[in-house]
Amino acid sequence: MLKNDLLEQWDRDSFLHPSTHLGQFARGEAPQRVVTGGDGVFIEDREGNRLLDAFAGLYCVNVGYGRTEIAEAIAEQARELAYYHAYVGHGTEASITLSKMILDRAPEGMSKVYFGLGGSDANETNIKLIWYYNNIRGLPGKKKIISRWRGYHGSGLMTGSLTGLDLFHKKFDLPLAQVIHTEAPYYFRRPDLDMSEEAFSAWCAAELEQLIEREGPDTIAAFIGEPLLGTGGIVPPPAGYWEAIQPVLEKHDILLVADEVVTGFGRLGSMFGSDHYRIRPDIITIAKGLTSAYAPLSGSIVSDKVWKVLEEGTDENGPIGHGWTYSAHPIGAAAGVANLKLIDDLGLVKNAGETGGYFVNAMRAALGDHPNVGDVRGEGMLCAVELVEDKADRVFMDPAKKAAAGIVGAMAADGVIARAMPQGDIIGFAPPLCLSRAEADQIVAATARAVKAKLG
Ligand SMILES: Cc1ncc(COP(=O)(O)O)c(C=O)c1O
Repeated sequence: MLKNDLLEQWDRDSFLHPSTHLGQFARGEAPQRVVTGGDGVFIEDREGNRLLDAFAGLYCVNVGYGRTEIAEAIAEQARELAYYHAYVGHGTEASITLSKMILDRAPEGMSKVYFGLGGSDANETNIKLIWYYNNIRGLPGKKKIISRWRGYHGSGLMTGSLTGLDLFHKKFDLPLAQVIHTEAPYYFRRPDLDMSEEAFSAWCAAELEQLIEREGPDTIAAFIGEPLLGTGGIVPPPAGYWEAIQPVLEKHDILLVADEVVTGFGRLGSMFGSDHYRIRPDIITIAKGLTSAYAPLSGSIVSDKVWKVLEEGTDENGPIGHGWTYSAHPIGAAAGVANLKLIDDLGLVKNAGETGGYFVNAMRAALGDHPNVGDVRGEGMLCAVELVEDKADRVFMDPAKKAAAGIVGAMAADGVIARAMPQGDIIGFAPPLCLSRAEADQIVAATARAVKAKLG
């Protein structure tokens, strides 16, 4: 490809990048990377760097880069039929096949799939379906949604409200009034260091129940949670958490939305996080791993229980007034079909569990004893290293030092991409599910080198 010498300048001058320090970027003070290619777990940039992408883009390129099976499926679909809508009963072979393939893999009790484009819009769909559901059931006052602090559910108006991270609320007039937040199941940051994991889970459930009682159970429609907290810090749930939370929801007739945008399709070493942690959701959000990001596609999987009420609703009120032009886009659907086949053919769910386990253990062995590493945690192909100022007293780093960002910057210069998570000094890892043990060793070695260089 011809090299356009002005591209970097055009980027600074023209492109409003998401989740970026806008002023610094435009002035040329913040890093810039123009990505040109990828294969396996590696990407390449315009400067000729080859980097091991230990975050799979934004934990989405699950099958790895450069999979021609998916590229060809997309090209074939584009040639045959680039687009047709899915309104009033229209479909394509790809979208129908994909919905069947998803249900074949989904936890028990799931009934239908609605397709969107990304995780945020899928969660917007979920909230609309939940409000509709309670209106049809004659419960118009039951509308509030409970989310967790540090949960991540998107950055739209409703989904940005559900997200429990300060950066996504500040100066945006969020959260909206219908959203309330409860405790994060974050054992390392538990308020009382003497609590066992089980006691902490019971405390989270008690806090939830008190919140429900304060607000009035008749006002609460649903609870949304990621099976394992993702962007909020990559935090596996403490022992007994979901077992403690679910009875509280059932008791108060509150729906459970499992946001599986990160955990769906294998990342934890199980096809779904709901199966991994024995969660029985009423709705499941999917995106990222559905197509491994080869094309934008998301979905809301609704259970039999929700479906029956939706069906009743349209019998009473006519067609459901919800849909996007690009719902079930054939190109996304073709990518999804090819991607799910590839996950099966390559045994990637199993590899996520096995190589992921090896990776987390290797990280723990390399860094667990470092005086500034407070916690090394993970599950499947997800891992986090949390930095502290003082380990014995669990004193967190001064955010102004930007310790995790500094380490991640040093790692990138050394050829490995990790992510400084947005709240706290946490280095996050979510490599493609096809990671090998040698590649896992490479990530661990680069992390250890950067921690040593920055923190001693
Ligand atoms: C759990 C979860 N839900 C929803 C979203 C939002 O997805 P999107 O960025 O595709 O809108 C994300 C994105 O990271 C996510 O991690």
